[in-house]
Amino acid sequence: MLIDTHAHLDYPDYDPDRAEVLARARAAGVTEVISIGTRLDSSRRALALAENHTGVWAAVGVHPCEAGPESLEEVAALRALTLHPRVVALGEIGLDYHRLPEDPDAAAALRVTQAVVFRAQLALAAEAGLNVVVHQRDSWDDTLAILQEFTGRLRAVYHCFGGTTAQAEELFALGHLISFTGIVTFKNAAVVRETARAIPLDRFMVETDCPYLAPVPHRGKRCEPAHTRLVAEQIAALRGVPLEQVAEATTATARGFFRFG
Ligand code: NI
Repeated sequence: MLIDTHAHLDYPDYDPDRAEVLARARAAGVTEVISIGTRLDSSRRALALAENHTGVWAAVGVHPCEAGPESLEEVAALRALTLHPRVVALGEIGLDYHRLPEDPDAAAALRVTQAVVFRAQLALAAEAGLNVVVHQRDSWDDTLAILQEFTGRLRAVYHCFGGTTAQAEELFALGHLISFTGIVTFKNAAVVRETARAIPLDRFMVETDCPYLAPVPHRGKRCEPAHTRLVAEQIAALRGVPLEQVAEATTATARGFFRFG
Protein backbone atom coordinates (compact mmCIF):
# COMPACT_ATOMS: atom_id res chain seq x y z
CA MET A 1 0.00 0.00 0.00
CA LEU A 2 1.29 3.44 -1.03
CA ILE A 3 0.17 7.02 -0.49
CA ASP A 4 0.65 9.69 -3.14
CA THR A 5 1.23 12.61 -0.77
CA HIS A 6 1.22 15.31 -3.45
CA ALA A 7 -1.11 15.24 -6.47
CA HIS A 8 -2.88 18.07 -8.31
CA LEU A 9 -6.00 16.00 -8.93
CA ASP A 10 -8.16 19.10 -9.37
CA TYR A 11 -6.28 20.22 -12.49
CA PRO A 12 -8.24 20.17 -15.76
CA ASP A 13 -5.71 17.63 -17.09
CA TYR A 14 -7.86 14.99 -15.35
CA ASP A 15 -11.30 16.26 -16.35
CA PRO A 16 -11.70 13.69 -19.14
CA ASP A 17 -10.87 10.60 -17.04
CA ARG A 18 -10.47 11.37 -13.31
CA ALA A 19 -12.38 8.23 -12.22
CA GLU A 20 -10.14 6.01 -14.39
CA VAL A 21 -7.04 7.76 -13.02
CA LEU A 22 -8.12 6.94 -9.46
CA ALA A 23 -8.99 3.37 -10.43
CA ARG A 24 -5.52 2.91 -11.94
CA ALA A 25 -4.00 4.27 -8.73
CA ARG A 26 -5.85 1.69 -6.63
CA ALA A 27 -4.87 -1.06 -9.07
CA ALA A 28 -1.21 -0.04 -8.61
CA GLY A 29 -1.56 -0.24 -4.82
CA VAL A 30 -1.81 3.53 -4.32
CA THR A 31 -4.76 3.48 -1.98
CA GLU A 32 -4.67 7.09 -0.83
CA VAL A 33 -3.97 10.39 -2.54
CA ILE A 34 -3.57 13.89 -1.12
CA SER A 35 -4.88 16.45 -3.57
CA ILE A 36 -2.96 19.69 -3.15
CA GLY A 37 -4.41 23.16 -3.63
CA THR A 38 -2.55 26.01 -5.32
CA ARG A 39 -5.13 28.81 -4.93
CA LEU A 40 -8.47 29.24 -3.17
CA ASP A 41 -10.49 27.84 -6.09
CA SER A 42 -8.08 24.94 -6.53
CA SER A 43 -8.23 24.22 -2.78
CA ARG A 44 -12.02 24.16 -2.90
CA ARG A 45 -11.90 21.72 -5.80
CA ALA A 46 -9.38 19.52 -3.96
CA LEU A 47 -11.71 19.39 -0.95
CA ALA A 48 -14.70 18.54 -3.16
CA LEU A 49 -12.69 15.64 -4.60
CA ALA A 50 -11.81 14.48 -1.08
CA GLU A 51 -15.48 14.58 -0.10
CA ASN A 52 -16.55 12.58 -3.14
CA HIS A 53 -13.81 9.94 -3.49
CA THR A 54 -12.76 7.34 -0.94
CA GLY A 55 -9.05 7.52 -0.26
CA VAL A 56 -8.67 11.14 -1.39
CA TRP A 57 -7.68 13.84 1.13
CA ALA A 58 -7.08 17.54 0.61
CA ALA A 59 -4.40 20.09 1.40
CA VAL A 60 -5.47 23.72 1.00
CA GLY A 61 -3.23 26.67 0.27
CA VAL A 62 -1.94 29.42 -1.99
CA HIS A 63 1.21 28.46 -3.94
CA PRO A 64 4.05 31.04 -3.86
CA CYS A 65 3.89 31.38 -7.65
CA GLU A 66 0.24 32.43 -7.23
CA ALA A 67 0.98 35.03 -4.54
CA GLY A 68 -0.46 38.44 -5.36
CA PRO A 69 -2.56 41.32 -4.08
CA GLU A 70 -5.63 39.09 -3.58
CA SER A 71 -3.81 36.33 -1.69
CA LEU A 72 -4.45 37.49 1.87
CA GLU A 73 -8.18 37.50 1.17
CA GLU A 74 -7.83 33.98 -0.20
CA VAL A 75 -5.94 32.89 2.92
CA ALA A 76 -8.71 34.34 5.10
CA ALA A 77 -11.22 32.26 3.13
CA LEU A 78 -9.06 29.13 3.58
CA ARG A 79 -9.69 29.30 7.33
CA ALA A 80 -13.20 27.81 6.95
CA LEU A 81 -11.78 24.95 4.86
CA THR A 82 -9.21 24.01 7.52
CA LEU A 83 -12.07 22.97 9.83
CA HIS A 84 -13.14 20.22 7.43
CA PRO A 85 -12.12 16.69 8.53
CA ARG A 86 -10.90 15.79 5.01
CA VAL A 87 -8.36 18.65 5.06
CA VAL A 88 -5.05 17.22 6.29
CA ALA A 89 -2.56 20.09 5.74
CA LEU A 90 -1.94 23.62 4.52
CA GLY A 91 -0.22 23.39 1.14
CA GLU A 92 1.34 23.95 -1.01
CA ILE A 93 2.88 27.06 0.47
CA GLY A 94 6.36 28.55 0.56
CA LEU A 95 8.74 30.70 -1.48
CA ASP A 96 9.81 30.44 -5.12
CA TYR A 97 12.60 32.70 -6.37
CA HIS A 98 13.16 30.78 -9.58
CA ARG A 99 11.17 33.02 -11.89
CA LEU A 100 11.20 36.46 -10.32
CA PRO A 101 10.81 39.55 -12.53
CA GLU A 102 14.05 40.94 -14.01
CA ASP A 103 13.40 44.40 -12.62
CA PRO A 104 15.08 44.41 -9.16
CA ASP A 105 12.36 46.49 -7.49
CA ALA A 106 9.60 44.27 -8.86
CA ALA A 107 11.53 41.17 -7.78
CA ALA A 108 12.02 42.54 -4.27
CA ALA A 109 8.33 43.44 -4.00
CA LEU A 110 7.27 39.95 -5.09
CA ARG A 111 9.60 38.36 -2.54
CA VAL A 112 7.96 40.45 0.17
CA THR A 113 4.49 39.44 -1.05
CA GLN A 114 5.46 35.76 -1.06
CA ALA A 115 6.82 36.03 2.48
CA VAL A 116 3.67 37.75 3.75
CA VAL A 117 1.44 35.09 2.17
CA PHE A 118 3.68 32.26 3.46
CA ARG A 119 3.65 33.62 7.03
CA ALA A 120 -0.13 34.14 6.99
CA GLN A 121 -0.62 30.50 5.97
CA LEU A 122 1.85 29.19 8.55
CA ALA A 123 -0.06 31.13 11.20
CA LEU A 124 -3.32 29.63 9.94
CA ALA A 125 -1.84 26.12 10.00
CA ALA A 126 -0.59 26.57 13.56
CA GLU A 127 -4.00 27.86 14.64
CA ALA A 128 -5.77 24.95 12.92
CA GLY A 129 -3.35 22.35 14.29
CA LEU A 130 -2.26 21.27 10.79
CA ASN A 131 1.15 20.55 9.33
CA VAL A 132 2.31 22.15 6.08
CA VAL A 133 3.42 21.08 2.60
CA VAL A 134 6.27 23.38 1.59
CA HIS A 135 7.33 24.40 -1.90
CA GLN A 136 10.75 26.05 -2.08
CA ARG A 137 12.76 26.83 -5.19
CA ASP A 138 16.01 28.82 -5.07
CA SER A 139 14.82 30.13 -1.70
CA TRP A 140 16.39 27.71 0.80
CA ASP A 141 17.61 30.17 3.46
CA ASP A 142 14.54 32.43 3.52
CA THR A 143 12.12 29.49 3.56
CA LEU A 144 13.90 27.92 6.51
CA ALA A 145 14.16 31.24 8.38
CA ILE A 146 10.43 31.92 8.12
CA LEU A 147 9.59 28.32 9.02
CA GLN A 148 11.73 28.57 12.14
CA GLU A 149 9.46 31.32 13.47
CA PHE A 150 6.88 28.53 13.86
CA THR A 151 9.11 25.91 15.48
CA GLY A 152 7.17 23.78 17.93
CA ARG A 153 3.81 24.80 16.45
CA LEU A 154 3.90 22.84 13.20
CA ARG A 155 6.04 20.58 11.05
CA ALA A 156 6.74 20.79 7.32
CA VAL A 157 7.32 18.36 4.49
CA TYR A 158 9.61 19.78 1.81
CA HIS A 159 7.89 18.36 -1.22
CA CYS A 160 9.68 17.46 -4.47
CA PHE A 161 12.95 17.40 -2.57
CA GLY A 162 15.99 17.85 -4.79
CA GLY A 163 18.70 18.62 -2.27
CA THR A 164 21.69 16.91 -0.74
CA THR A 165 21.77 14.49 2.19
CA ALA A 166 23.23 17.31 4.34
CA GLN A 167 20.31 19.61 3.46
CA ALA A 168 17.85 16.83 4.28
CA GLU A 169 19.56 16.24 7.63
CA GLU A 170 19.26 19.96 8.39
CA LEU A 171 15.49 19.67 7.97
CA PHE A 172 15.25 16.42 9.98
CA ALA A 173 17.07 18.07 12.90
CA LEU A 174 14.24 20.64 12.99
CA GLY A 175 11.55 17.94 12.94
CA HIS A 176 10.65 18.35 9.27
CA LEU A 177 10.38 15.69 6.56
CA ILE A 178 10.93 15.49 2.81
CA SER A 179 9.20 13.74 -0.07
CA PHE A 180 10.47 12.44 -3.39
CA THR A 181 8.90 12.62 -6.85
CA GLY A 182 9.64 10.84 -10.13
CA ILE A 183 12.82 12.91 -10.39
CA VAL A 184 14.54 10.03 -8.55
CA THR A 185 14.10 7.99 -11.75
CA PHE A 186 15.83 10.58 -13.94
CA LYS A 187 19.37 9.65 -15.03
CA ASN A 188 20.68 13.19 -14.46
CA ALA A 189 19.40 13.35 -10.87
CA ALA A 190 22.48 11.91 -9.14
CA VAL A 191 22.29 14.19 -6.09
CA VAL A 192 18.71 13.40 -5.14
CA ARG A 193 19.20 9.70 -5.86
CA GLU A 194 22.08 9.65 -3.41
CA THR A 195 19.90 11.46 -0.83
CA ALA A 196 17.10 8.91 -1.33
CA ARG A 197 19.61 6.11 -0.81
CA ALA A 198 21.31 7.53 2.27
CA ILE A 199 18.69 9.10 4.58
CA PRO A 200 16.81 7.22 7.33
CA LEU A 201 13.85 5.17 6.10
CA ASP A 202 11.38 6.92 8.41
CA ARG A 203 12.11 10.53 7.36
CA PHE A 204 10.56 10.67 3.86
CA MET A 205 7.39 10.14 1.89
CA VAL A 206 6.64 9.54 -1.79
CA GLU A 207 4.59 11.64 -4.18
CA THR A 208 4.02 12.28 -7.87
CA ASP A 209 3.37 16.07 -8.07
CA CYS A 210 1.18 14.96 -10.96
CA PRO A 211 0.37 16.04 -13.64
CA TYR A 212 4.07 17.07 -13.63
CA LEU A 213 7.28 15.03 -13.31
CA ALA A 214 6.17 11.66 -14.67
CA PRO A 215 8.81 9.07 -13.76
CA VAL A 216 10.71 7.03 -16.31
CA PRO A 217 9.39 5.35 -18.54
CA HIS A 218 6.57 7.92 -18.75
CA ARG A 219 8.85 10.98 -18.60
CA GLY A 220 7.38 13.94 -20.48
CA LYS A 221 3.86 12.55 -20.48
CA ARG A 222 0.98 13.35 -18.11
CA CYS A 223 1.81 11.94 -14.69
CA GLU A 224 -0.82 10.35 -12.41
CA PRO A 225 -1.00 8.94 -8.85
CA ALA A 226 -0.47 5.32 -10.01
CA HIS A 227 3.12 6.34 -10.83
CA THR A 228 3.84 6.69 -7.10
CA ARG A 229 4.69 3.01 -7.35
CA LEU A 230 7.53 3.72 -9.80
CA VAL A 231 8.93 6.34 -7.42
CA ALA A 232 8.85 3.89 -4.51
CA GLU A 233 10.32 1.07 -6.65
CA GLN A 234 13.23 3.30 -7.66
CA ILE A 235 13.95 4.26 -4.04
CA ALA A 236 13.74 0.60 -2.97
CA ALA A 237 16.21 -0.34 -5.72
CA LEU A 238 18.61 2.47 -4.69
CA ARG A 239 18.51 1.27 -1.09
CA GLY A 240 18.66 -2.43 -1.94
CA VAL A 241 15.48 -3.28 -0.04
CA PRO A 242 12.12 -4.76 -1.13
CA LEU A 243 9.40 -2.38 -2.34
CA GLU A 244 7.19 -3.48 0.58
CA GLN A 245 9.66 -2.01 3.06
CA VAL A 246 9.60 1.42 1.40
CA ALA A 247 5.80 1.22 0.99
CA GLU A 248 5.22 0.36 4.64
CA ALA A 249 7.61 2.97 5.97
CA THR A 250 6.43 5.85 3.76
CA THR A 251 2.78 5.02 4.43
CA ALA A 252 3.34 5.02 8.20
CA THR A 253 5.26 8.31 7.92
CA ALA A 254 2.47 9.90 5.87
CA ARG A 255 -0.23 8.72 8.29
CA GLY A 256 1.71 10.15 11.22
CA PHE A 257 2.47 13.46 9.51
CA PHE A 258 -0.97 14.13 8.01
CA ARG A 259 -2.78 12.36 10.88
CA PHE A 260 -5.50 10.65 8.88
CA GLY A 261 -6.90 7.14 8.88
NI1 NI B 1 2.77 20.64 -6.53
